[in-house]
Amino acid sequence: MKKMKVGIIFGGQSGEHEVSLMSSTSVIKVMDKTKYDIIPIGITKEGNWKLFLGDVSKIQDGSWQEEAIPALLSPDPNYKCIITLKDGKESRYYLDVVFPVLHGPRGEDGTVQSLFEMMNIPYVSCGVTSSALCMDKVFAKQILEQNGLPVVNYKVFYKRELAVRMPEIISEIEEHLGYPCFVKPSNLGSSVGISKALDQKDLKSALLLATKYDTKVLIEKFIDAREIECSVLGNDEPRASLPGEIIPSRDFYDYKAKYLDGDKSKLLLPAPVSRKDIGRIQDYAIRAFKTLDCSGMARVDFLMSKVSGNIYINELNTIPGFTNISMYPKMWEVSGLSYKDLIDELIKFAFERLQQKNELKLT
Ligand SMILES: Nc1ncnc2c1ncn2[C@@H]1O[C@H](COP(=O)(O)OP(=O)(O)O)[C@@H](O)[C@H]1O
Ligand SMILES: [Mg+2]
Repeated sequence: MKKMKVGIIFGGQSGEHEVSLMSSTSVIKVMDKTKYDIIPIGITKEGNWKLFLGDVSKIQDGSWQEEAIPALLSPDPNYKCIITLKDGKESRYYLDVVFPVLHGPRGEDGTVQSLFEMMNIPYVSCGVTSSALCMDKVFAKQILEQNGLPVVNYKVFYKRELAVRMPEIISEIEEHLGYPCFVKPSNLGSSVGISKALDQKDLKSALLLATKYDTKVLIEKFIDAREIECSVLGNDEPRASLPGEIIPSRDFYDYKAKYLDGDKSKLLLPAPVSRKDIGRIQDYAIRAFKTLDCSGMARVDFLMSKVSGNIYINELNTIPGFTNISMYPKMWEVSGLSYKDLIDELIKFAFERLQQKNELKLT
């Protein structure tokens, strides 16, 4: 049987470049080499695309760049390939499917996905609109809320308003949400630019910090909560895994707790919650996935109040972490789907979505 040519895109320009290097190394290692021909394509922090055919172990520490060849993805739908130029010689590497193992802006937000749409090539995870909506915390919340799904109370302000009426905005937040509250740039990930504000002084600096990362700022009521996550997989009939729980090593699951404290944050797999709560979490996860028009996969993150037991949808990650200790594959593993089989499924769903799309009339 002819092997399937899978382009694994790694690196990227977001703050989660290093996380992507770890995720893609795990993905490449686990993929069945008798079925797949893997074509790894790295994106440097500067945004250059490079073909890397060397040893996988060189991805994680960045040394892959030394032997990578500058490459271009061809947007021509007749040539689903990447083109390299070395010593004046052009080479073409054809692709059957692409798996962007990229996290954060310009990777998970619909930008790179639109390039694959132009090429008419199947790609893993959500489409352009869905990826963009899930990356934008404000849009995602507004749509979930309009569809009757539970989200934490919030307010939204733009940088331009904050510049002219900060004191009024602070009073509005105090009146509607109170302290503590969470302040977040709308479009970003990995907890960058996020603060927990305990008083007026904190709130002001938190708002200013968030405007450094986005022109749209989300402020949420603080929930003293357990952090529960659930993996969703599929297209038209998505399924949900058993939920998992994260016990952060710090006050909240900030950048340090996520990436710098090593394994100090605890992962509970599956999450120790009642059968009834498992059902509620899975139901919300699937409804959120469908509401935001997701396909392929998403990790749905929840806040579960320690006081009332109420469950709120916090956010959806359309390309969640994929290291061998990451929650998305781990939650599938405890639900009976191995990491290796999970990759097969994701690729199958990428083909299925493109096929469904190509059956539609575009003009
Ligand atoms: N409303 C909230 N109440 C309590 N904790 C929160 C709230 N919002 C976020 N957090 C904490 O901050 C962390 C990061 O926020 P999140 O919205 O998940 O951003 P990111 O996209 O950067 O992961 C969460 O994992 C949680 O620990
Ligand atoms: Mg999060």
